[in-house]
Amino acid sequence: MADYSHVHPSAHKFFSLPDDQRLIACSNDFWVQHPGAEKIMAGIQLKMKMRNKVSAPCMLITAPGGGGKTALIEEMKARNANNEDKMIFVSMHQSPRFCTKSRYG
Ligand SMILES: Nc1ncnc2c1ncn2[C@@H]1O[C@H](COP(=O)(O)OP(=O)(O)O)[C@@H](O)[C@H]1O
Ligand SMILES: [Mg+2]
Repeated sequence: MADYSHVHPSAHKFFSLPDDQRLIACSNDFWVQHPGAEKIMAGIQLKMKMRNKVSAPCMLITAPGGGGKTALIEEMKARNANNEDKMIFVSMHQSPRFCTKSRYG
């Protein structure tokens, strides 16, 4: 009997699956919780509790490419589904000027 004590209990079920199903399971993205991201999300939750502000509270999050910005947003979207205070996510074109030109000539 193999020893899976080094593996998180929630993943033990995968070891009994056939190869093809284990391969699919390995290809699934999953969120790795870390203090930096939790701090950002706690900050956003706090700002969302501020009601009736004339100037909206803002936060700028920067990180080098591959630093986890997109993954953080995806995790925020996932958590948002069950949150009482709902967030709205808006995607902006990387080059708004180009976008305006192509639309209006
Ligand atoms: N907390 C995390 N848990 C799991 N995967 C992560 C996490 N943060 C980043 N990644 C993974 O690292 C890679 C780079 O992250 P990404 O969000 O694309 O970076 P960025 O948007 O800052 O360029 C991606 O494959 C992403 O899924
Ligand atoms: Mg990104």
